[in-house]
This record gives sequence, C-alpha cells and structure tokens, in this order.
Amino acid sequence: METKTVAHHLAEKQREISISQFFERNRHLLGFDNKKKALMTTIKEAVDNSLDACEEARILPEVIIEVIDMGNDRFRVVVEDNGPGIVKKQIPPIFARLLYGSKFFKLAQSRGQQGIGISAAVLYAQLTTGKPAKITSKIGPKYPAQYYELHIDTEKNSPDIQKEEEVEWSKEHGTKIEIELEGSYQAGFQSIDQYLKQTAIVNPHVTIIYTNPKAEQLIFARATDQLPPRPVEIKPHPYGVEIGVLIRMLGNTECRTLQSFLCEEFSRVGPGTAKEICANGSLLTSLKPGDMSREAAEKLVEGIKKTKIIAPPTDCISPIGEELLEKGIRKEVNAEFYCATTRPPEVYRGNPFIVEAGLAYGGSLSAEEPVQLFRFANRVPLLYQQGACAVTKSVISNAWKNYGLQQSKGALPAGPMALFVHISSVWVPFTSESKEAIAHYPEIIKEVKLALQEIGRKLSIYVHKKFRIRELSERANLFEKYIPEVADSLAVLSGEKKEKILEGLQKMISKPKIQEELQIVPPGEEQQLKLSEVREDEE
Ligand SMILES: Nc1ncnc2c1ncn2[C@@H]1O[C@H](COP(=O)(O)OP(=O)(O)O)[C@@H](O)[C@H]1O
Ligand SMILES: [Mg+2]
Repeated sequence: METKTVAHHLAEKQREISISQFFERNRHLLGFDNKKKALMTTIKEAVDNSLDACEEARILPEVIIEVIDMGNDRFRVVVEDNGPGIVKKQIPPIFARLLYGSKFFKLAQSRGQQGIGISAAVLYAQLTTGKPAKITSKIGPKYPAQYYELHIDTEKNSPDIQKEEEVEWSKEHGTKIEIELEGSYQAGFQSIDQYLKQTAIVNPHVTIIYTNPKAEQLIFARATDQLPPRPVEIKPHPYGVEIGVLIRMLGNTECRTLQSFLCEEFSRVGPGTAKEICANGSLLTSLKPGDMSREAAEKLVEGIKKTKIIAPPTDCISPIGEELLEKGIRKEVNAEFYCATTRPPEVYRGNPFIVEAGLAYGGSLSAEEPVQLFRFANRVPLLYQQGACAVTKSVISNAWKNYGLQQSKGALPAGPMALFVHISSVWVPFTSESKEAIAHYPEIIKEVKLALQEIGRKLSIYVHKKFRIRELSERANLFEKYIPEVADSLAVLSGEKKEKILEGLQKMISKPKIQEELQIVPPGEEQQLKLSEVREDEE
C-alpha cells in the first residue's frame, strides 16, 4: 500500500463549504456585525423587499412595521406589506435559501440585487434565538393565505420546513414576515426611526406605519399617489463589458454572426454601430461568435472602446426627479433654502446610472458643525460606512469654499447645510454584500461631483444674494437713524414742513426695489429665493 503524503491527509479534509455556512461565520459581510445593526438590517431587508414587490406589481406600498421588545436583548420584528404576495412553492426557498431571488439576472433598478437579503436575516435569527421565521402570504382574494415556519439547513443551504398550513387572512394580497432575533434598539443617529424617515424622503409614494419598541406609533404618510415609473429591463451596454463576460456571452449566444450578436445582446447597437465596432477591432462582421478565440474577443473589446456609442437608455432607471427630491427634503428638514438637481445618465462598466443631489441650507441647521450628509442608492438610505463611500469622497473633494462654506482639507464642509446624494443604477456597485457604501468608480465620483457643483452654484447665488440684501438693509437702517436730524436741517434750509420731508425720506429707503429684495428673506416664513428671479436681476 502507498504511504499517505501530507497532500493525501489534506485531501481528506478538503470539501465544499455551503454559502449558508460561509455567512454563518461571516455575518458582518451581510450587515449583522452587532446587535444594533442586526435589528436595523433585518428591517431594512424586509422593507426593501416589500417596496420592490409593490412597485413591480404597480401597487402603492403600505408597509406596517412592528418591533417588539421581548426582553433579554431579543426582539420580534413583524413586517407586513400589501404587495403581490409570493406563490406557495417559492416561499421556502425565498426565506430559507441564501442566493435565491428574482433580481440578480435582471438589469433594471431595484433595491435588492443579490438574492441574499431576507434569507440572511432568517439565518441570523436562527443563529441567535433558534426560532423559525414565520411567513404568511396571499396572492389574491381567491387564493388562501399560506403560512410557513422555516429553518435553514445550513449544510445544504436549503429550507427545513417546520410547519406549513393554510390560514385565514383578511388581506386581499400581501406578505407578512415575523422574525425573532437578538438585537438592540437605540433611537437617534443610525436608528430604525432615522432609516424610515429617510426612506420616506426618497420614496414620497410610500406609506409606512411603524410601531417602535416603546410602543409609539409613527406614521410616514405618502406625499404623492404617483408610483415611480416602472424601470424597464435592459441589455448590457457595450462600454465597460469585461473580457471574461464577453467570452461567456459569445459562447452562449444563439446569434450566427458577430454583427447580429452585437445588435441582439447589447443595448444601443444597431447594424451601423456593429459594423463600426468590427472595423475598429479589425474583425469580420460575419465571424461566428462561438468560434471566436480569446484574442478575437480581446480585439472586440478594443473595437468597442474605439467606437462612439450613444449612452444606454435611461428607462431602466427611475430617478426621483428634481421636483420630488426637493419636495421630500422640504417635508422632513426645516431650512430656508432648498434645491435639487438630476444629472443626465452615465455609464460605469456598461451599467447606466444617474446621480441626483439636493440640499437644504440655513434655518434650523447648525452652522458650526460639519454638514449632514445623507446617502441613498436606488431609493434606500445608506446609514453605515460613510467614510468608505465614493459619495463621501466626492463631497470632500469638492471646493465648498467657492460656495461660501467653511472646509478644512480632507474633511466634509462645515455650515448650516444638509446634503442629499442619490445614485440609481441597474447595478449599484456596493463595497460589500451589506450594501452600505458605494465603490470608488471614477465615473461615479465624477458624476457626484458634477451634481454637487450644480447645487453648489445654486447655493452660492442664494448665499451671495442674502449677503447683498443684508448689506442693503444695514445701509437702510443706518440712514433711517439719521432721518429725523436730516429732516430738521432740510426743513430749516428749504422752508418746507418737516413732516413732509420726513415722509419723503421714509419713502426713499422703502422704495420698491429694496423692499422687494428685503421681502425675500423675512425670517421664519417660506423664504427660499426663487432662483429664476435671482438670475434675472443678477444679470
Ligand atoms: N415581501 C415580498 N413580496 C413579494 N416577493 C418577495 C417579498 N420578499 C421577497 N420576495 C422575493 O424574494 C426574492 C428574494 O429576496 P431577497 O433574499 O431579499 O433578495 P433580493 O431582494 O436581493 O432579490 C426577491 O427577489 C423577490 O422575488
Ligand atoms: Mg431583498
């Protein structure tokens, strides 16, 4: 018999690790690194799913959330939506199998993308309390509601059904999940309350009814009955497609020629553009995709790079829009000036994305502290890892002094301002599966910067104007002080009645122009400058 080598001994221990086992050990990668965050992430995953499902079904979302303190750092989380519900057979894998979902292969904007959100919460709950997840779902008035109690068999990464039955549920359709987990609840910064408030800002069409562990009910009512337009699924854009992906696509396609492959599998490529790509890559349009070598694929990448191709269609992304973003900010932040901007679409690695930014300035915002930065991706607030996020990098690298704010090198600007940056994309490049920070793609950093500059310019017009108005009114005040004396002297010199002179002088300082300008900033009221007005008289 052969003697066993070290490699043989190692071979006995080498085996596959299931995804559930991997995340059992690495829960921090999914946003479950501590009790507070775990509770937050669980709610976030459930709410994200409810909103995605409602929007896909074109239903105005109403989400009811309840967090119950069970004592001993245990909480029961109940999230109920009025969405389309889930087909019976799909309930177990959705909640008790990691990497199972409907959004991964689809190039259209959604909150979830990897199919690992809610099952991760179920896994964490199981680890920390041993309790099964309880799911109720109903897909229409004519269907019975299905109820499940589920565990995850981590070795197999598959559902372990504890209980399965039909139940009565008065709702016409929707899904309700109940999860019991170890957690900790805190109000304030990075809290569930904050997350829901910010969700309400960027989702003005959503109603959220939230009961917190203190049994206080908070209602975030929708501000519009208009659902965001349904994002259309798209094909990848040729720009930024990587060689490995291209080789796989060439192997899988049913197209017979390179030209038809380019036209069929990518967005924004018609026969003309396809011919140009081939010419630029020194390739024949008639090549059979399946026969193309790695070298030929590399030439194709070069050809794509050299060809001017129009930007991808934008109906795959649904930005909030300048008007609604500003409305959302106004609703939740008390300030004196608001503005927002939506940038035209751009592309990183073939994925279209749109950056939007808004700001609130002055009013109740503190002037001494760094500005408050709120980051969002596909309408989801990002509460953690601010320092690691591409958005933060852009904000820091912007020259805020140009817009009348203080800023020390390498830091966020300081001043009475709250900044909102939203990125929507068919695929948001997060730095990790916990979806907290956006990766540093130069294209994204640049777009954020351009958006910030746009709102920065609007802000500087306002700040400048405000300064001028203050100057004017100070001058007027000073003059006003001397009016009685001046009127006395003029009365002596001219022989006119003092009262008449007084009246004339008063009129002079309150002449319509100054008055008009002064009216723009009475403290307290609706006091934003109308930008169009400012521009006109600035010219
Ligand atoms: N409340 C819900 N209503 C309808 N479908 C849901 C709901 N929650 C989850 N789903 C379905 O389950 C899938 C898996 O959800 P999840 O694990 O969070 O992954 P992801 O959201 O990244 O796709 C979703 O893609 C969706 O199809
Ligand atoms: Mg999800």
